[in-house]
Amino acid sequence: MKKLTAPEVAALDPYAFMAVIGKRVIHPGGRASTEALLNRARITKTMNVLDVGCGVGTTAIQIAKRFGARVTVVDISPLMLERAIANVKDAGVGELVTVEHGDILSLSYPDDSFDVVIAEAVTMFVDRGRAAAELARVCKPGGRVLASEFLWREPPTVEAREIFLGQVCPGLHFDTLHDWVDIYQSAGLSAIETDTGPFEMMSPRGFLADEGFAHSLAIMGRVSTRPANIRKMAWLMPRMGKAVPYLGYIVVAGHKQFARV
Ligand SMILES: C[S@@+](CC[C@H](N)C(=O)[O-])C[C@H]1O[C@@H](n2cnc3c(N)ncnc32)[C@H](O)[C@@H]1O
Repeated sequence: MKKLTAPEVAALDPYAFMAVIGKRVIHPGGRASTEALLNRARITKTMNVLDVGCGVGTTAIQIAKRFGARVTVVDISPLMLERAIANVKDAGVGELVTVEHGDILSLSYPDDSFDVVIAEAVTMFVDRGRAAAELARVCKPGGRVLASEFLWREPPTVEAREIFLGQVCPGLHFDTLHDWVDIYQSAGLSAIETDTGPFEMMSPRGFLADEGFAHSLAIMGRVSTRPANIRKMAWLMPRMGKAVPYLGYIVVAGHKQFARV
């Protein structure tokens, strides 16, 4: 894995930084929201699954191991792809998981290609309508599209809003539960179902639940032995602490209907 310079570490977005220090679960609801999403996905062994914006490949590895399904994963970031490829190999699921470069706004797959299409914490970073339409386009009629996104669980203070959307994730804006449902309905999906929950990715409890004790220690070791990582954490954590009480996740699940004749 390419070692980043200190200025490169300083310039990473929070999610890429989490990947660099070895965090495996990089979305707001942690493994709990993946569990909610998988419960609604109803994946079976014979299905072809697409995971868009796969990060380091954690959910795809879980799907391959748990359901024995084939999973294609794409991400736009070379840094994430490098880690996803290594993790898939380490997990011994290379025969089931294919890692490819791709952009959620312009996927290279034909219409109606996959039984289940997943995007965890990706649509919110781009043009949401276009991204949701791409996810729906590549899903087979009768298939399912599932996404997890950020949400304010409670109205944030002015300070929490400014810190999170102005400093931690500049340029990001949030939609309400109804906005997210509208976005996926407008993409052509029906029978939309949702789950919501707290942002647990960076709370001590959520961190341990997502990464396990030994891996959490390994991450802490990776942070504490590199000054650039310590500086980045020292900048990030107090800011996250201000926003976390107001943050949550939403899982949106919808069906792609068969075309009417
Ligand atoms: C918050 S992380 C989520 C990663 C992973 N889905 C997970 O839950 O662990 C967002 C991911 O979306 C990827 N991403 C951002 N814009 C993208 C785009 N236009 N197309 C594909 N992936 C994108 C990022 O590189 C990153 O891996």
